[in-house]
Formats: sequence, C-alpha cells, structure tokens
Amino acid sequence: MRKILLLEDERNVRYAVKRVLEEAGFSVKDIENPHEIDNLTSYSLLILDIKLKNTSGIDFLRTLREKGFSIPVVVITAYANPENIISASRYGAIDILKKPFGKEELLGLVRQVLKEEEPSAKKPEVLAGGSIIGDAPSMMEVFKKVGAAASSDMTVLLVGETGVGKDFMAKVIHENSLRKDAPFVAINCSAIPETLFEAELFGCKKGAFTGAIKDVKGKVEIAEGGTLFLDEIGDIPYPLQSKLLRFLEDKSFYRLGDDEERKADVRIIAATNRDLQSLVEKGKFREDLYYRLSQLTISIPPLRERKEDIPKLINFFIKKANDEFGTQVRGVSKSALEEALNYTWKGNIRELKNTVYKRVLEVKEGYIENLQVPKESIKNINPLVRELLEALPEGEIKRFLPEMERELLSFLMERYGGNKSKIAELLNISRNTLRVKLSSYGIEG
Ligand SMILES: Nc1ncnc2c1ncn2[C@@H]1O[C@H](COP(=O)(O)OP(=O)(O)O)[C@@H](O)[C@H]1O
Ligand SMILES: [Mg+2]
Repeated sequence: MRKILLLEDERNVRYAVKRVLEEAGFSVKDIENPHEIDNLTSYSLLILDIKLKNTSGIDFLRTLREKGFSIPVVVITAYANPENIISASRYGAIDILKKPFGKEELLGLVRQVLKEEEPSAKKPEVLAGGSIIGDAPSMMEVFKKVGAAASSDMTVLLVGETGVGKDFMAKVIHENSLRKDAPFVAINCSAIPETLFEAELFGCKKGAFTGAIKDVKGKVEIAEGGTLFLDEIGDIPYPLQSKLLRFLEDKSFYRLGDDEERKADVRIIAATNRDLQSLVEKGKFREDLYYRLSQLTISIPPLRERKEDIPKLINFFIKKANDEFGTQVRGVSKSALEEALNYTWKGNIRELKNTVYKRVLEVKEGYIENLQVPKESIKNINPLVRELLEALPEGEIKRFLPEMERELLSFLMERYGGNKSKIAELLNISRNTLRVKLSSYGIEG
C-alpha cells in the first residue's frame, strides 16, 4: 500500500489530517519534526506544513531536493503568501493547500497525486527575497506557475494588460532560477527601430551597415548564462521572427553581416499586452513562433479582477513611498479605499503605485483622505444599453437622446396615467417644461 508521510507540528491539524486519510484507507505516518524521518524513500507522498517549530517547511523541502529526493510533496499552510507559493512550486511541490481546508479537498488532492504521481527532482536553489503582493486566488495560480517556471528552463510567455506585473514576474522567475547569478537582460521590442533590431538582438559585424564601426555583441550574448526578457514581443519585426524562432529551437544565431554561426546559452521570457493569437490571424505574427512561445503561458489578471489585492498594494506602496521620501503617511481613509476599489485601474498596479506615490508626497503625514483618481471617462456600460447602442447606425446617433427622451416620457405618461405634476416632479423639471417637451414629441397629454 502507498504510505503517506505527514510532517506537521500542530497537534490538532496533524491528528485531523491523519484521521481523514486513514478513514479513506491510506496508511499514514505522522511526525512533528523533520529529524523523526526514517526512510523517506518508503513513502509515496509527503504532506508538509510550512511553518514548523524550529525550521521552515520550505527550507526542509529545498534540502530534500538538494539531496536528490524526488518524493511528491503537497504543502499545507495557513501562510499561503506569494513567496511561499512560488518557492514551494519551485521546489516541486505538487500543490499547496491553504488552511483551513476541507476533507474533500484534501482527499481529492491526495488521490490525484497518488494516481498520477510524477517524480519531480529539482536542483537546489536559493529563495528570492523582496516583497511580492497578492493573495487573490487567481494570483495563487500565477505564483504556482511562476515557481514552476523558475524550476524549469522553458521559454515563458507572460501575458496581461499594461502594469499588471509582467516585468516584475519575469524578474521573479529569473531570481528563483538556476540562472539567477547570471545577467537578466531586457529588450523592449516596441522601442527599437526595425532596422536596428537584428543588431540589437544578435549583434553585428564591423561594417555590416553604416555606423557599425566595430564588432558588437547582441543582447543574446550579453545575457549569456542568464535570462533574456523580450518585452512587447508582439512588436518584434516580422522578418526577425523566424530568426528568433531558430534561436529558441537550438540557441544558434548569426551576428548581422557575419557568417559564423554562434550559440548562446540564454533562457527567454517574453511578455505581451496584445492578443498574439489575433496577430497570428492577421498575419502579423508567425504561428510557429507563437506556438513555440506559448508553451508555458502565464496570464496575469488585471487589478480590477482581483480587488482583494488593492488594500495590500496601497499599504505596500505607502510604506515604500515613506521610505523613499522620508514622509510619514499612515494609511488611507475608508473613503479613499472605497475610491480605489471602485476605480477601473486601466494602468493596473503601475497606475496604483503612481497614484499612491503622488498622494504620499502631497499629504506627507497622517491619512490620505482621497486618492484623487481621475474621473472615469468610460464607465462600465449597462449591458442593456450597450446592446441598443451597438445596434445603432452612425447616422442615427444624433437622434438617440431625443428618441430615448420620447420613449421615457411616453412610458411615464402611461405609468402615471398622464399625471403631469407627478412626472415633472420625478424628472425634476417644471410642469411647463414638461408640457413643452410633450408637445414637441407629439405625445398626447
Ligand atoms: N505582485 C506585485 N507585488 C508588488 N509589486 C508589484 C507586483 N506586480 C507588479 N508590481 C509593481 O507594479 C509596477 C508595474 O509592474 P510591471 O512589471 O512594470 O508591469 P508590466 O510589465 O505588466 O507593465 C512595478 O512598479 C512593479 O514593481
Ligand atoms: Mg512591462
């Protein structure tokens, strides 16, 4: 029978988990301290708590992997913060269960793991420091993928609106990867003129074009051993896409104007805020390159879809701003928070950060009473109204408002049996104005 090892220092949790598993027919050995482990290879699954008495479960997991143990691990924790999720995934934890979890959740996961157990020995690495904010469920999924990406050397595609944290996650992946001591080099594909792009990426030989006065290394060589981040990959010039694809396939390239084939050991992370699929359909992006890039896609949700992260981000940026400016802002008022929660943040975390920094500088101390987010030019359009508006031919646009007013007045006349005092009051206009309107629309009064 498959044996499960349970390492959890909290007695009640240990007891409850053991019981649930044993009732379901599993054999469980429970311990509260890593030193009690006898023969790890005799187990099919390790259930591991992160916050242990004298050590961290993550450190323990890392040590296991360093020693070459590939036992499947499920992490259970009340502290499912981004760093923990990323590190646990990075060291090959199959999943993370957030405490408190239900019986079915636990059993479902354990059954799934023991059926399709996939040994995942990971090489040793150090954890990234720094602050990563996010505890929305959608972000938990992002962090798991980021951790998994860090433990592999695969090409990664980060997608998401501007300001959601694509650059940020690219660096987190790099810093958690085996390449972390080698360079992280970024290219913004939308910022480089097409004519210079190839030389920028792959380098050039002296005399390859006017201005190429000496041999120059491209970014692929500068990033040797490390990670090359291709931001705004949707803007990479079409002619270069096949060269990039070849580089992704076998890491080989030519400097511009040179006929010596070279190799560079570089991991590629790409990012885009555009819909690559539709660029493919329009013939602006090579399909083969798209497939090659999108094997490991991490999609970062916009801030408006993970509002639970907003309060934490605000406090995080207030602290950072205080550190940088020497100010003493203590927080935001309830109404400022409300303001932030209702705003659509088209610029996502970047816009939030800029807004907070600006207000911290202005307010300097105490509480930020309002964030002064811009008035929204485009509100969320009511779906019923949207349907009407989308069907509207351009020529009809100017007639839309009067038409609507006519419909509204007819409706009110019907509902209130032609009671003009009542209707004028509801519309907050004078009876006389109402009468004029009614007659101009030819509504019987
Ligand atoms: N999860 C996060 N926790 C804390 N700060 C973040 C997080 N994600 C993004 N940021 C910050 O938000 C800003 C915008 O992120 P960035 O990576 O530049 O966005 P993008 O590349 O998607 O446009 C940066 O200042 C970055 O440090
Ligand atoms: Mg960016």
